[in-house]
Amino acid sequence: MTSTVDPVAAPPITQERRLVTEVPGPRSRTLAERKATAVARGVGTMLPAYVVAADGAILLDVDGNQLLDFGSGIAVTTVGHAAPAVVAAVQQQAAAFTHTCFMVTPYEGYVAVCEALNRLTPGDHEKRSALFNSGAEAVENAVKIARAHTRKQAVAVFDHGYHGRTNLTMALTAKSMPYKHSFGPFAPEVYRAPMSYPFREPAPISGEEAAARALTILEKQVGADTLAALVIEPIQGEGGFVVPAPGFLPTLAQWCADNNVVLVADEIQTGFARTGDWFACDHEGVVPDLITTAKGIAGGMPLAGVTGRAEIMDAAHVGGLGGTYGGNPVACAAALGAIETLQRQAMTERARQIGEILLGRLRDLAATYPQIGDVRGRGAMVAIELVAPGTTEPDAALAADVSAACHAQGLVTLTCGTFGNVLRFLPSLAISDALLAEGLDILEGAFAARTGR
Ligand SMILES: Cc1ncc(COP(=O)(O)O)c(C=O)c1O
Repeated sequence: MTSTVDPVAAPPITQERRLVTEVPGPRSRTLAERKATAVARGVGTMLPAYVVAADGAILLDVDGNQLLDFGSGIAVTTVGHAAPAVVAAVQQQAAAFTHTCFMVTPYEGYVAVCEALNRLTPGDHEKRSALFNSGAEAVENAVKIARAHTRKQAVAVFDHGYHGRTNLTMALTAKSMPYKHSFGPFAPEVYRAPMSYPFREPAPISGEEAAARALTILEKQVGADTLAALVIEPIQGEGGFVVPAPGFLPTLAQWCADNNVVLVADEIQTGFARTGDWFACDHEGVVPDLITTAKGIAGGMPLAGVTGRAEIMDAAHVGGLGGTYGGNPVACAAALGAIETLQRQAMTERARQIGEILLGRLRDLAATYPQIGDVRGRGAMVAIELVAPGTTEPDAALAADVSAACHAQGLVTLTCGTFGNVLRFLPSLAISDALLAEGLDILEGAFAARTGR
């Protein structure tokens, strides 16, 4: 491997934001030039500061800048970067063996992760799990399992939903640009229903009414007797951190139970303590038939799972589920380390505290800046939706501007939303109150600068 960049020797990372160059700095810019000639254009980078090390809530880049991370690699490093239990488990497992393929010669770590998933996910019925590499792969497999169980084919999803970038999950995902545009044709038998999106309802509507609206459309346009699965994110991620009105999810769950439709909760972004409970479904006592997990499950190692009712999971024939790397032993070791950390450090409680701090400060900010039309979220999954003042007209340009201003100050923020006008905050649960406050100060400064206040 040749390197034209001489990265700064990685000193120990301190839990502080510290800028020694502009962001991105000169070494990062050199790497960005190499990227442009080596990496396919379709693989974008949001903040091209190249990372050499990370710890807790801080990223160290090649120029020696310490960036404050409010994105956690899109909700992945929930336990923090380089969580000691994750690092130790990965090192130990990598030294022992890195791969055998669970479908060829198995190992205990895979079974232990499935046991943990069966124990931690909602419901105390008998469960089974299967492990995969990515969230999209987990969603694909949940659909396969639901079809095998019900012997039906159609799948229902929701406006603003995001489920991945493989062919089937592109079809399940709502937003065209950039996820689907020019990549069709898409998988058939996918039907979309309206979501409960309280901020964007033309008139107030309860969760139960919003569910009835969606179910009427599905009953009339598809029919329960052809629907294998209803796939929903209990709080939508990429679509804009949309929290449905109370009653929406339980009403859908009851309808699924009454109609032999498998309810698949896609908790890939919301799972593993992110929202202040182990899973977002727990907030309303919803027990899905199947649940898909990934991201926060393994402290940064690629791992995903499908967990659910034993009789549904076991509908797939022997050999019907799997993949070369699914449930890789190093990723499983990392997951066990991450789960131990979440439990030992009572991180669901910490997520709730972080949520209170974020929501409190952001609501104050919304009182000053009418461009913040909505503040929403749960736990350490919180967002603001930016609009033309006094309307619901999306202001994506302001979201991009504010985010860029945060990046220049070394605060990693992410945008999302169907209209690109949502700023989302996904700090690690290892972040200190002081760093959280510092990040919010930077955000406030960015609003002041961008709106001329
Ligand atoms: C809710 C949800 N489902 C599925 C996915 C796809 O996961 P992956 O990128 O690991 O394939 C994501 C990723 O952001 C997600 O947020």
